[in-house]
Amino acid sequence: FQAEDGIRDSVASRGLGDVYKRQHLDRLKYSLNETKISCSIEDCKTEIEKLLSESKSEDGYIYYQVSRGVDSKRSHFFEESDCERFGFVEEFSFSSQTPLRVMLVDDIRWQRCDIKSTSLLGNVLQMNDAKSMGCNEILMHKNGELTEGGASNIFFVKDKTIYTPELSSNILPGITRHQVIKIIKDKKLDFQEGSYGINDLNEASSIWFTSTTKGIVGVEEIVNLETKINPECELLEICKDAFVKKYFS
Ligand code: PDD
Repeated sequence: FQAEDGIRDSVASRGLGDVYKRQHLDRLKYSLNETKISCSIEDCKTEIEKLLSESKSEDGYIYYQVSRGVDSKRSHFFEESDCERFGFVEEFSFSSQTPLRVMLVDDIRWQRCDIKSTSLLGNVLQMNDAKSMGCNEILMHKNGELTEGGASNIFFVKDKTIYTPELSSNILPGITRHQVIKIIKDKKLDFQEGSYGINDLNEASSIWFTSTTKGIVGVEEIVNLETKINPECELLEICKDAFVKKYFS
């Protein structure tokens, strides 16, 4: 496992239950298949359930990862090895988060960000640069095209329509993103998925980040970009309320 050769997932646990476990397991299975790591998804499921049942935390999340296992020759070629599985429960409060300060950065990651891998060097370097500027998230773009946050997906509002970058190999298919899109569609709000650029952020009235640990949270400032964002966004409040009611109350 010297080559960051592994995959991971984080499952929210609320009131000692699991939140959208099936979707997380499906994504874990996809990541295992795409990385050709031999590991039974049933074993992962059993261990995730064990972590949950033995946890004493009412609210938290389960972090779980699978690596290809010991690489005894330090070779770039796979050998027959047993995968190594690891997980823990972290106590965590899902109560509403304060708006984010964000830095717009180049997406310097590899080209298979649809796999939830343990290779996070691109995210880590950019997020720590942003932290030194007083930020708690990054908003990434690849050659001007918006992708996602360092540990979240992004949405923005322009002229009363909600937009999010469409899924591609440059974006993690977030479970929270999926749930938020369902809410937007249920509420019949104007919505589009597509390819968007930095100029769309200049014109956005609101920008949101979504993830298992953040839920849905708004952005108060992009420190290195001129925007028109207004922290009071009716569409954000509608989606946030529906999300909290549906999954966290
Ligand atoms: N991160 N994009 C990236 C790069 C992420 O790391 C995450 C989640 C998401 C949102 O996915 P989801 O809604 O399924 O949590 C998008 C988790 C929380 C983490 O790093 O622990």
